[in-house]
Amino acid sequence: MGSPPRHIAIIMDGNGRWAERRGLPRIEGHRQGAESVRQVTRAARAIGVGRLTLYAFSEQNWGRPLAEVAALMQLLRDYLTDERAEIMDNNIRLTTLGNTERLPEYVKGPLDKLMTDSSENDGMELCLALSYGGREEITAAVQRIAERVASGDLDPSAINPSVLQDTIAVEDVDLIIRTSGEQRLSNFLLWQSAYAELYFADCLWPEFGKAELLEALSAFQRRARRFGLVA
Ligand code: FPP
Repeated sequence: MGSPPRHIAIIMDGNGRWAERRGLPRIEGHRQGAESVRQVTRAARAIGVGRLTLYAFSEQNWGRPLAEVAALMQLLRDYLTDERAEIMDNNIRLTTLGNTERLPEYVKGPLDKLMTDSSENDGMELCLALSYGGREEITAAVQRIAERVASGDLDPSAINPSVLQDTIAVEDVDLIIRTSGEQRLSNFLLWQSAYAELYFADCLWPEFGKAELLEALSAFQRRARRFGLVA
């Protein structure tokens, strides 16, 4: 296989359907989904991916039933405890995207600690998008730019895509994978996906593992990326 994409991002869809098809509560699908997170992270690290961004909880997911939100938060907390050694031993740097101030303290505490403890690791960046929305991210950047204009630090005529890029400060994504057969971006990495390759897997997220990741990477390598230029 050629060199892997630098930045892969995944919309982990289909946990609920996986559970419902088995007559199980939705949270069982999320629990199995957390297992896929472990496997895919390990595989991405072994393959040499630079950054893996996972859409773990969207800003809009706060609107789900309270019991499901609470169960997802508990899963996250368990994940941060259980995966601590794996993340540290494999030289992975944990980061986040999104409005993490909204997370309950029992998630935010261990999250902040693991981010700090892993901040010097340089093997792979694992970024969890939590309470994240692409439009919200762009809106916050526009607000910061407006403040710079209002304070006289920036002239409106100097605003260009590089200014937005520097303000958002998240690198472009090379490959976006979405599971469960749905073909949409759902407010994920809207700015960073301008030239991303999109890959849709029919399987549900709890069924996605190393083999499925390798299949996505091999499809990516067959794509000709032109970035608006000619071949
Ligand atoms: C989408 O499936 C999935 C989510 C909203 C949550 C993703 C969470 C995990 C994979 C587990 C916890 C994460 C970590 C990092 C440990 P869905 O519920 O929308 O499925 P459906 O469309 O079939 O209902």
